[in-house]
Amino acid sequence: MTRSGNVAPADSANPAEDGKRGGYLSRLKSAWFILKRLRRVRDNAIAAWPNFCYKRELIAFRVLRTSLFIINHPPSIQRVMATNGKNYVKSPMNTQALKPLLGDGLFLSEGELWTRQRRLMAPSTHSNRLAAYAQTVIEEGRTAIEAWHRLPPNTDLDTTETFTLLTAEIISRIMFGFRLGDERVRQLFEAFKDYQASHGRAHVLEIFGVPTSFPRWSMRRGKKAIRRFDEVLLEILEYGKRSCGEVPENLLDILLNYRDDQGRPMAPNLVRDEMASIFLAGHETTAITLSWAFYLLERNPECEKRLHEELEEVIKGATPTFEDLPKLVYARAVIDETLRLYPPVHVFSRQAIAEDEIMGKKVPAQSMMVISSWLLHRHELLWDKPNAFRPDRFMPDAVKKIHPFAYIPFGAGARVCLGKHLGIMEAVLLLAMTAQKFKLRLRTGHPVEPLGRMTLRALNGIPMRFEPR
Ligand code: HEM
Repeated sequence: MTRSGNVAPADSANPAEDGKRGGYLSRLKSAWFILKRLRRVRDNAIAAWPNFCYKRELIAFRVLRTSLFIINHPPSIQRVMATNGKNYVKSPMNTQALKPLLGDGLFLSEGELWTRQRRLMAPSTHSNRLAAYAQTVIEEGRTAIEAWHRLPPNTDLDTTETFTLLTAEIISRIMFGFRLGDERVRQLFEAFKDYQASHGRAHVLEIFGVPTSFPRWSMRRGKKAIRRFDEVLLEILEYGKRSCGEVPENLLDILLNYRDDQGRPMAPNLVRDEMASIFLAGHETTAITLSWAFYLLERNPECEKRLHEELEEVIKGATPTFEDLPKLVYARAVIDETLRLYPPVHVFSRQAIAEDEIMGKKVPAQSMMVISSWLLHRHELLWDKPNAFRPDRFMPDAVKKIHPFAYIPFGAGARVCLGKHLGIMEAVLLLAMTAQKFKLRLRTGHPVEPLGRMTLRALNGIPMRFEPR
């Protein structure tokens, strides 16, 4: 226990602790216990959290030779992710599963490469571009709504898939100036689904940093998926090269126009990795947010009613615009509360470069720091009725009471999401446009169970009927 009295070992009956004291048998017991726990984390990182993790601020333990800290204490999270962020890099546990697909792209790179690329790419999501991007969101939203209106009555759509196809088209148009069309969007969607199926569960070896290049049977499917993914990226790239202007406009132009001090262009592999990173980071998260939002609204009819009232008052039957966004206060609160309960990126893990101290506890170099936004956002010491859907928490006055590091759906510090404002704008606009025209109703009896893999999806999807209003 430390001075806060709120630091726990991983499990009060943790054989890992016994292992320090006992002999061969207890070390074997300890290894078995850890492997069992890791298997559960691998299968579903959300379901694996024991109850006490929702009550403790810091849980510290060792796995083999590595010290592991699970942090639910906002000031300590601030230290790891922001104030002393330079001492922490993304850990293998975080990066290995994505490495074959995203390579050295912004999501995974570190050091000088990351600094250069972040600086270069940041203007593509600057707030001064949002109004123009909103136009694309509205156009694609309209096309999707027209298609949903043409569905035969009582058709269920899987919301995650439906919104993924929509947000994939939007991110490609915004960032690459390229309209994918239904066939390519589906090819990318299927490729990523296959990739998740083969790499989505971190291999126990990866958790300890064994590179993904280490041969594993399960990865064959993943390799095929990357090839299908790359076919589309290559097409976009060829198109970008033909249409690339003198003045950088979209992100692809920025990447293709780049020259280093010696006038050399960016390496083709890096251009590919950045495209893959932006494409994936920029659509999957927003689509998941929307599908959880409609699920939560359906479960909470009084919140749905308030959203409809706001839409009628602010938009009055017209199509929402970028200028309407500051007035869509409740719609924004619905998105914020959805991101609290179902943060698409549900866990961050960092590795300490040098020794540090957290809540009075020594953090040795190489320690793994696990910050789960799933745990943090449902923590009993931080939230009143943590599991209840209450968008009111995020209404303008109430939101001031939330510690900025108690709510981190977009991460924090230098590695904060590059597309945070774009993601929020897109999610609020698409929520408003869809809710204005449809009520989404869950297929009767369908069990919805969150599944924590690379992102936080639902185990068997969220099939909903789009009922015109
Ligand atoms: C609701 C929507 C979104 C959510 C919840 C979300 C969440 C996140 C989170 C949590 C991180 C930090 C990961 C970490 O620290 O390990 C991140 C990083 C990132 N996001 Fe997003 N994101 C969203 C939308 C977008 C969009 C629309 C883009 C498109 C540009 C984008 C691009 C990125 C990139 C490039 C990074 C890596 C940044 C870096 O490491 O420098 N995201 N996102």
